[in-house]
Amino acid sequence: MSNFQPNPLQIFKLIFSHLISDYSLKRTPEPISFYNDIEKSLEYSKSQSTNMMIPYAIALNYIQRISTTEKINSALELCCGPGVFTQQLAKITKINHITAVDLSQTMLGLAKANCSSLTDHFDIQFKEMNILNLTTELKQKFNLITFLNGAHHLENLNDVKTVLQQAESLSTEDGIIFVLDPVRPKSDKIANYYINLFGKEYLVKGLNHFFNDFKDSMYASWTPTEMGSSIPENTNKQWIQLIPFGFPAFQILIGIPKNRKQLFLRNDLSISIFKDLLPSHTISDFNLLKTLFKIGLKVQLNPNTYNELEQYHTPIKPSSIKTLKHSHIDKVMS
Ligand SMILES: C[S@@+](CC[C@H](N)C(=O)[O-])C[C@H]1O[C@@H](n2cnc3c(N)ncnc32)[C@H](O)[C@@H]1O
Repeated sequence: MSNFQPNPLQIFKLIFSHLISDYSLKRTPEPISFYNDIEKSLEYSKSQSTNMMIPYAIALNYIQRISTTEKINSALELCCGPGVFTQQLAKITKINHITAVDLSQTMLGLAKANCSSLTDHFDIQFKEMNILNLTTELKQKFNLITFLNGAHHLENLNDVKTVLQQAESLSTEDGIIFVLDPVRPKSDKIANYYINLFGKEYLVKGLNHFFNDFKDSMYASWTPTEMGSSIPENTNKQWIQLIPFGFPAFQILIGIPKNRKQLFLRNDLSISIFKDLLPSHTISDFNLLKTLFKIGLKVQLNPNTYNELEQYHTPIKPSSIKTLKHSHIDKVMS
């Protein structure tokens, strides 16, 4: 085990503190214009050798399990940043056409460079765009729309709703919308513990700006209830929220076709794909997060179940954890 990897006792402490705490941490929005600084953006790009790859692997696995067709024709990637996920999306899902958008020219420059070896085989377009203006900037529809680590950059939940609404109108009828974002920890104490535990790797590798960005993200993130409340009104999709059991470092929000009877259509990606994608020291934490998502909450978001999701944020006493978990597991689609 490397000297920056959390040990099982530390993870247990994190999970236990989360389960017995109330929500007290108020949101602090992200500082503006971070991503036009070349040094900071470069660090983001370099973090490919770190645990940052874990959520991408989780996302790719879910995308391939839920996509309507095995071979996806077109994807729109919102807030592509330095194109680390863009690369993996192209390589693993072999999508024919990807349009990747971001507000930062610096990030887009890095994304183009990071994806340069792929453009002979895949059609990848990069566009400078504010995701709040998607429907004025884009006219075509997409089979898949991804939005990773971007929702917490928006100023308020109305903006998140605007982006999801516009994403829906750019999604084909059988299309999928896939959102992954961190979850704001319940308290300042838990946030600090988590940031120092999982961010230590960035400091050891000299990625100090990236560490600070990670820290800002945790304070700017939405709680699952906040995120769940941002699904479009009068939506033509079914929306499902996945929240891992124990300590929810990330949450996933998925919009699938209205008439779909099951969420998952395919099995997990093969272990060999994850071995190629992930730095070897992150495999065990990846397997843990994958399992925690599997046994975690899967909530179909509609006005009735949404109210129940609110319970998630009321103080949870250890004795009630099991009941709470099972009451939500009943809502699992498949
Ligand atoms: C934390 S990075 C995430 C990058 C990438 N999705 C990932 O997961 O590695 C957030 C990105 O969102 C971009 N961004 C923030 N607000 C935006 C907006 N309103 N429109 C487009 N991009 C935005 C930033 O420039 C930055 O590249």
